[in-house]
Amino acid sequence: MKNHSIALIPGDGIGTAVTDAAWAVLQAAARKDGTFTLTGKTFPWSCAFYKETGAMMPSDGIETLRGFDAILLGAVGWPAEVPDAVSLHGLLLPIRKAFVQYANIRPHRLLPGVEGPLKKEGFDILCIRENTEGEYSGAGGRVHVGTPDEVAVETSIFTRTGVERILRFGFEQARSRRKKLASITKSNAQKYSMVFWDEMTAKIAAEYPDVEVTNYHIDAMAARMVMAPESLDVVVASNLFGDILTDLGAAIQGGLGFAASANINPDRSAPSMFEPVHGSAPDIAHLGIANPIAAIWSGAMMLDHLGEKQAAADIISAIEAATAKGIGTLPGKDKTDTITAAVLAVLA
Ligand code: NAD
Ligand code: IPM
Ligand code: MN
Repeated sequence: MKNHSIALIPGDGIGTAVTDAAWAVLQAAARKDGTFTLTGKTFPWSCAFYKETGAMMPSDGIETLRGFDAILLGAVGWPAEVPDAVSLHGLLLPIRKAFVQYANIRPHRLLPGVEGPLKKEGFDILCIRENTEGEYSGAGGRVHVGTPDEVAVETSIFTRTGVERILRFGFEQARSRRKKLASITKSNAQKYSMVFWDEMTAKIAAEYPDVEVTNYHIDAMAARMVMAPESLDVVVASNLFGDILTDLGAAIQGGLGFAASANINPDRSAPSMFEPVHGSAPDIAHLGIANPIAAIWSGAMMLDHLGEKQAAADIISAIEAATAKGIGTLPGKDKTDTITAAVLAVLA
């Protein structure tokens, strides 16, 4: 029987609980399907690992992960003990970059039974976030540290290759959906990178005459996602703008516990990584109330990527059946285990 080997990185805080939940559901979906198996190997890479070893992952961590078919990650970060800039630049961000997971796919729609703060139904947004460059390039520095003359510079790097491939990815997604694409910039204020992005959007749009393209500034898009989310289909944005818009997307779908994410290497030259949009949630980490739906949904995106379309669809249906019964629909209402059990019960 076909097997998919999965690297599991639960990480910090609620990352562990939601990864356990997702893994249990993935195994149940594989059993139900009966045509494939999943084998998992867990890596304890996290802030606790950093405190023990002085690194977020071993020096050959990337090479170790390269041998897997996919990576399932919980969340990274425990800022009370390890600075975020150390933990994220030591684990999550290098994986996205090393494995050229340039397309970060983040769906935002309401599950049945979830009301959401807008009290409005009928939106179905697919955010496509550039995931390897832009504002997250890590280029910059500080001079005259601690003096009145201190200067800090953080350089955004936008390459033609990087911008072109994420836009083309977005256009392909739009073509397979409702054929609308929103391209996000701040080209009224940022006159190099974002003007370049607008030019690339126009150039690639010419290859997709069937897709309706609209350019929005990031500020206007933030308002639109609240006021008229149903007017949007595919939204393509740079790394930082996409990061911010997808927490907003999570909010309108009922909370961070619902927002799934796939870090895709579209060329399949290295493994892709699947993780919820949310972080380690230190404020609720030991309460047993983390919503596992975002992680479970991310697991379904992993199966879809691995070609297990039916099993992926089964998981989405099971999540929908659970929330339709009112389980997991409000933050903190149900325990992680209760929500997981409800999804597993539908699959069984
Ligand atoms: P966060 O997403 O962890 O939490 C924001 C808020 O959402 C909190 O109130 C939290 O309780 C709530 N929340 C998040 N996930 C939830 C869930 N599944 N169920 C219920 N409520 C949930 O963001 P933060 O507080 O800014 O970050 C905490 C740590 O996580 C930081 O170290 C940050 O850098 C890191 N982080 C990591 C990732 C990642 O690994 N992909 C993503 C975001 C933040
Ligand atoms: C996310 C997270 C990360 C990001 C952080 C933790 C570096 O917020 O996956 O959305 O900004 O990409
Ligand atoms: Mn984020």
